[in-house]
Amino acid sequence: MAKKNNDFFVKKKEWSMVKDELLGCYFKPYVSKILHTYRPLVYVDCFAGKGKFEDGNNGSPLIALKIISECLETTTVKNPRIETIFIDLNYAEDLKKNLSSFPEANIISGKYEDNIKTVLKDKKNWNVFLYIDPYGIKALQCSLFDSFSKGSFNSIEMLINLNSFGFIREACHALGASFDDKSLFADLIEYDSTKLDASEKSINELNEIAGGDYWQEIIELYKDGEIDGYEAESQFAKKYCERLNQSYSYVLNMPLRIKKGQRPKYRLIHTTNHRDGCLLMVDNICNRWEALQEIQTGGQISFFEEDCNNEIVNKEEIKCKTQEFFSQFSDYVSLYDSLAMFFVNYGPICSTGDVKKVIKEFESKKMIMIHRNPSLTSKGKPTTFMSEEKGQTVLVRWAE
Ligand SMILES: C[S@@+](CC[C@H](N)C(=O)[O-])C[C@H]1O[C@@H](n2cnc3c(N)ncnc32)[C@H](O)[C@@H]1O
Repeated sequence: MAKKNNDFFVKKKEWSMVKDELLGCYFKPYVSKILHTYRPLVYVDCFAGKGKFEDGNNGSPLIALKIISECLETTTVKNPRIETIFIDLNYAEDLKKNLSSFPEANIISGKYEDNIKTVLKDKKNWNVFLYIDPYGIKALQCSLFDSFSKGSFNSIEMLINLNSFGFIREACHALGASFDDKSLFADLIEYDSTKLDASEKSINELNEIAGGDYWQEIIELYKDGEIDGYEAESQFAKKYCERLNQSYSYVLNMPLRIKKGQRPKYRLIHTTNHRDGCLLMVDNICNRWEALQEIQTGGQISFFEEDCNNEIVNKEEIKCKTQEFFSQFSDYVSLYDSLAMFFVNYGPICSTGDVKKVIKEFESKKMIMIHRNPSLTSKGKPTTFMSEEKGQTVLVRWAE
């Protein structure tokens, strides 16, 4: 049910906690790492909100600013430079008040879509991180995401909170599909008063958000009763990520549930053109998974390992997927490039270390060939490392 937007900041809800937990757990290692590129970083919270909830909980702006100040205090990098920008259409005054202990924070009153190009205009060779957490879907023009990827930045990453169920609902309105399954949207986290009608204009708007018309086929299947609403959402999210993949090499699709066993509420999507950013995201998500589960289950103990779909992932399954994925490489490929592609393909189902372990096992069974550089240790023994850092490279190929 649509709710009035003005109660959003009264009390921080469980799903906002989950979102922020994910932002925080990734952003901290990201900032520490990115400072070592010796290029400045600009962090833009494109839908910043008030900065703080009325119950005293920090919103995304304060979470990011605190992480940045901790990183600046502890980094060994000389003269690190980080600029922070907070855009909000409605709450610039609240932001000024709530961020007053961070006078260096820049606050922009207005729409993200009207301001972002200007904000990024003079950021040639900078590292750019965009946090995109709108109420609904309306402001998410795919063409803007495409244009960022073409900017001459040192790097660009986005963390997008996609209300995919909201998209499906509006897509049904636009194509005149009625939905019998009211439960599909009953507990939709919805703070977007935008409603689209059945018109050409609405269809064009949705094409612009989705970056194509592929969503229409999915809604037609739903209309014909061939798939249910949950399948429609999941197919849409998959296609949406594939569309982003045209501009960003690594796109991670993370469905988020609030309670165990529930259907996903929305998707968090991480995009980057750097494999290391993708791998960092995977490992930090996996590290923080326990904390997230605490929020998600209200402290119930789970005896099984689960991925971020809350699906039980067992070691056998990881092994199967590793075999399935790596058996496609008959020529040598970089271990880290292929690992990042593995997670784009299957989602963050386990840590990078879990897959590396399976690859090592396959190496010992001669199913996978590994070419390491340097190939020998200083004592003349064959090297066994599995990391591509500090001048080391690891190439892998399927042996059979
Ligand atoms: C989901 S809230 C953001 C919450 C925030 N990330 C947090 O954790 O505290 C979305 C915010 O987007 C703002 N907003 C709505 N339309 C916008 C637009 N076109 N551009 C920028 N901000 C917008 C709203 O005023 C609202 O504060």
